[in-house]
Amino acid sequence: MTAMELLAPRYEADVDPAGLYADAGRRRPDRPYVLANMVASCDGATAFDGRAAGLANQADQELFKLIRRSAPVVLVGASTVRAERYRPSTVPGQRIAVVTRSCDLDLSSDLFRSGQGIVVTTEDAEALPLDLATIRVGRGSVDLAAALAALDVTTVLCEGGPALLHQLITADLLDELCLTLGPAIVGGSSNRVGGGPDPAHLIDTHLVHVARDGDHLFLRYVRKDLPGG
Ligand SMILES: NC(=O)c1ccc[n+]([C@@H]2O[C@H](COP(=O)([O-])OP(=O)(O)OC[C@H]3O[C@@H](n4cnc5c(N)ncnc54)[C@H](OP(=O)(O)O)[C@@H]3O)[C@@H](O)[C@H]2O)c1
Repeated sequence: MTAMELLAPRYEADVDPAGLYADAGRRRPDRPYVLANMVASCDGATAFDGRAAGLANQADQELFKLIRRSAPVVLVGASTVRAERYRPSTVPGQRIAVVTRSCDLDLSSDLFRSGQGIVVTTEDAEALPLDLATIRVGRGSVDLAAALAALDVTTVLCEGGPALLHQLITADLLDELCLTLGPAIVGGSSNRVGGGPDPAHLIDTHLVHVARDGDHLFLRYVRKDLPGG
């Protein structure tokens, strides 16, 4: 992957992002470690014209693939799967767990035909094909803590969108945020990274690094109160 310029905690003109985002320490004893990877415009938008692509640069697209290697399961909201037309992951063995209440998903898409897709829905959601990997937890709304437990892995990568991330934050289930800030100023009503209805919840983090590629900044925040951290 293209080298980045490291600005903090020390200066390095050419740093390998693989080292910066290495998964050392991404474990916790009580539940899967949950990291999120998001890109935002410098004024806080997470989408332009309904997609995130306009906010990223090539380094961010490469980083998206690199961070994917850090978790066996990607957790993503159904609106993101529909908007971004999710395809199967190229990471061997990786699963893509899609959170949905409506089950309005294209089950004939490559994502589900590949066998990588897992539908994470509610106990009272509609019936789904028996050969489809499905997790049902909660009634009316997916119980995200129970869903994480059912995934039965050490690390889960959440790729958004904001609505899903907001719920992980308010349920105190987020451990790390890898945030790319791009130079676009978007305006409008696009949700911010963890945007959603009140009440809000504050997770205190520390800034692990700041890296840069051109006009994009790459920030990694890890929660301060990690058990054993
Ligand atoms: N900038 C970035 O890094 C980034 C990342 C991801 C997405 N995006 C953008 O964000 C937009 C989509 O994000 P979004 O916030 O609108 O939606 P989202 O979080 O991707 O998905 C929301 C949907 O997920 C399902 N869902 C979420 N929580 C649930 C729960 N507890 N129980 C049951 N179902 C649940 C529901 O699906 P159903 O409707 O099927 O019931 C809900 O409508 C797109 O424009 C996308 O391009 C940007």
